[in-house]
Amino acid sequence: ERGNYRHFMEKEIHDQPDACQHTLSAYLDPVSGKATAPGGVDFAKVDRIQIIACGTAFYAGLISRYLFERLARIPVDVEVASEFRYREPPVTPGTLAIVVSQSGETADTLAALRWCKGQGLQTAAVVNVHESTMAREADVLFPTHAGPEIGVASTKAFTSQVAALTALAIAAGAARGMFDATEEARLSRLLLEAPRLIAQSIAVEDAIRALAPDLAKARDVLYFGRGAMSALALEGALKLKEISYIHAEGYAAGELKHGPIALIDEATPVIVIAPSDALYEKTMSNMSEVMARGGPIILFTDAEGAENAPAGVKVIVVPTCDPLVAPLVFSAPIQLLAYHVAVQKGADVDQPRNLAKSVTVE
Ligand code: M6R
Repeated sequence: ERGNYRHFMEKEIHDQPDACQHTLSAYLDPVSGKATAPGGVDFAKVDRIQIIACGTAFYAGLISRYLFERLARIPVDVEVASEFRYREPPVTPGTLAIVVSQSGETADTLAALRWCKGQGLQTAAVVNVHESTMAREADVLFPTHAGPEIGVASTKAFTSQVAALTALAIAAGAARGMFDATEEARLSRLLLEAPRLIAQSIAVEDAIRALAPDLAKARDVLYFGRGAMSALALEGALKLKEISYIHAEGYAAGELKHGPIALIDEATPVIVIAPSDALYEKTMSNMSEVMARGGPIILFTDAEGAENAPAGVKVIVVPTCDPLVAPLVFSAPIQLLAYHVAVQKGADVDQPRNLAKSVTVE
């Protein structure tokens, strides 16, 4: 049911605090602060993780690489399923293959899962539809509890995937002795704060809606971010393309001078996703390059980042949060931007042209 919302996508964006909370409750014990990998996966015995997915689920995988590597010191590879399955890469026995999929039916991802099983790898599936083929065929189900997602553009399934993978990264770090139980509990509690922070980030909707009329006129839009936010830049660009039909590209901000800077002009809006973390200053220097060329900038940052932002930049202030949960907290504003631009353009938000909810043929 759409309730009072105009589109399923809008409802599903607003459902995200609940979706994340339900998902996290499958992994984190709020009393003890313990993080547990379902299905008895022993991360102490995993020496490499191969994440395989398509589209938005692939971007959730990219975000999780930063977390698994930082918290658990496990090397992680992330690849789109359509490349992975035909590349047939050499694999090593201690590799855990994790497929990520809302539907659990995406043809390329399923084929990649089957290939990994055929290689004798341990397999796990981060899946939202728990009766799906991937959920059945993987050795282990890492569930998301987003509930049914109707909008073709994935929103709450994406943040639920990120939430599940973040919890797994904490579980992996603990299992590998990277930190003690006190730190595990601290990280778990930080992550359990995410639903509340997501609700606050959705509350900036009015400020985002106000940007839509200008953005809707753009032919091209560029998204930049660093660290996990570089993956969110890719996701933001995909979301805008899918529902508003505006050409958009996401880049790691450090790539600016290696090509995309040639596209900057007065008519090309630049979306920058930059919480005030260790990389903020680097991203700001990229922003000044963009401004020097007349590119209009919309900066998504927190209160401290807003204070330090160069004059002339439009700022959307997102709740202050720990880097652990920043990908979750910055997601809803990025989705809302795409949503309101699409609504402004009169596009069919829930059923964008040429797209299917589940891509079951390759
Ligand atoms: O069901 P899946 O998560 O496997 O689907 C993967 C992609 O097809 C999907 O995320 C697609 O990119 C969405 N339309 C993104 O909004």
